[in-house]
Amino acid sequence: MRSVAIDGPAGAGKSTLAKQAAKALGFLYVDTGAIYRTVALKAVRAGADPVDPAQVVPLLENLDLRMDYGPDGEQRMFLEGEDVSSAIREHKISGLASKVSAIPEVRAFLLDFQRKLAREHDVLMDGRDIGTVVLPHADVKVFLTAAPEARARRRLRDLELRGQQADYDTVLRDIIARDEQDRNRPIAPLRQAEDAVLLDTTNLDLAASLEALLAIIKEKIDL
Ligand code: DC
Repeated sequence: MRSVAIDGPAGAGKSTLAKQAAKALGFLYVDTGAIYRTVALKAVRAGADPVDPAQVVPLLENLDLRMDYGPDGEQRMFLEGEDVSSAIREHKISGLASKVSAIPEVRAFLLDFQRKLAREHDVLMDGRDIGTVVLPHADVKVFLTAAPEARARRRLRDLELRGQQADYDTVLRDIIARDEQDRNRPIAPLRQAEDAVLLDTTNLDLAASLEALLAIIKEKIDL
């Protein structure tokens, strides 16, 4: 099986680009952030404080979390049988996902889940620690980034498209705070793997970013 690992901070365009690149390659696209978001949603619904391992870890034991792909090829997340793919995209879940993801037991629990997918399929996986921890032997590693202001503008547009209220300053502040949290946690922090190729999309539009991403991948994988 072949694997492509794409890591980077929030709002760098990872999911949009990774989804399109996976389609072009015929690989399974795995959005690992969605899995952390689903755990965060479970914590919220259970009334658990997402920063408190003593409250979150017991929830993992009987966690009924499932991932599937819809007829449109879109990844969907199910929690206790309910399709929560939209619910996990709410703005407040982003910060909470970052918080639960800092809990070592949560990361350990999801590690096998992610590695199993990569054993069974050609995957293009995006997240924060795919190239460094989840798939250290990935065929291609890309670290996708952009200036915080560019990421905030894109995130704002995404939220607006989903009909969610937000303002630029709040989105920018939340992005910077989440980067800090993801970069500075002791376990599996967000960082560029030594053998990852850096792709900065600050000044690239979607088409140019996709072209650059596919060029990096095709240089390393024979398709
Ligand atoms: O990619 P995203 O914004 O949907 O991810 C939500 C949070 O989940 C992110 O702030 C940190 C965490 N996450 C992680 O720790 N490791 C991953 N591989 C993916 C996401």
